[in-house]
Amino acid sequence: MDVRDFIDISTEVAGLQLEYPVFNASGPLCVTTQELRAIGESYSGAILSKSCTLVPRSGNPEPRYKEFGDERNSINSMGLPNLGYREYVEILPALKSYGKPVIASVSGLTQEDSLTIVRSFNNTGIDAVELNLSCPNVPGKPQIGYDFEASKNLVKGAVKVSGLPLGVKLPPFFDISHIKEMAEILNSSGVKFVTCINSPGNGLVVDVDTESTLIHPRGGFGGIGGPCIKPFGLANVRKFREFLNPEISIIGAGGITSGSDIFEYLLCGADAVQVGTHFMNNGTSVFQNLVYELVKLIMDKGYKSIQDFKGNLRITEAT
Ligand code: DHB
Repeated sequence: MDVRDFIDISTEVAGLQLEYPVFNASGPLCVTTQELRAIGESYSGAILSKSCTLVPRSGNPEPRYKEFGDERNSINSMGLPNLGYREYVEILPALKSYGKPVIASVSGLTQEDSLTIVRSFNNTGIDAVELNLSCPNVPGKPQIGYDFEASKNLVKGAVKVSGLPLGVKLPPFFDISHIKEMAEILNSSGVKFVTCINSPGNGLVVDVDTESTLIHPRGGFGGIGGPCIKPFGLANVRKFREFLNPEISIIGAGGITSGSDIFEYLLCGADAVQVGTHFMNNGTSVFQNLVYELVKLIMDKGYKSIQDFKGNLRITEAT
């Protein structure tokens, strides 16, 4: 029996068909061929690779990823460990055999690096590129997504050299005017999808017993993931849906651990979602569980497809 016998939960992102509206976030467990194949074999609706750089990186010293709190939030400062873009140009096309979209995440350390890498995926047979504007963990490299002028230059350059649908992964914004300004840049740049939000950067988690930081790199500062960031993910998706051209797809991310969380993101206007911390903490089985939970919720509500409710969040009545 297949969940698709009951209900249509397929979706479209940047013109690509996804059988399920949930896939892995770039970050956890998507560095090596083996990890990427495991995602291919799972219920993940697409395969997204770890953000790659020009040359391979081993990343920051450990401990660099820790869970915290009863809800299994996370703090990380991985420092972009990856095999280098040439490996992904080799590895990713073969993953098309799983019959789902294959997307490369790109995070050059300079604009020139990013453009070289984006260009290298042209004509490889993969489906799309997610350009990461929001890595918070490389010492001396601020998150480009918080610099609107630099973001505009990079995104316009990347769209120009890319032969594939190009999207951007954004940091969270905490002021509506910033979301509006970024949306205006993206509306005039030719991007096909927007993923929001990346982990809010430069959080600090303290262990009272040892009176020390949980992770080592960058003085213990790192990106925060898990349920504690969900309200900001939902808010960014909702406001970007309001400000972005309707033809630009939105992928929601931040704190998803259940089918109900996915439903919330879709209600706010997301076309699909990504899962980071929950995937890291539990492995590829999360995708099947999330798909089943989402199907059950949608059926219980009497909807037949995602289109029936996507973006239809209501403002609660005044009392
Ligand atoms: C890393 C973390 C991120 O949030 C990101 O977008 C890219 C890379 C990292 O530390 O590896």
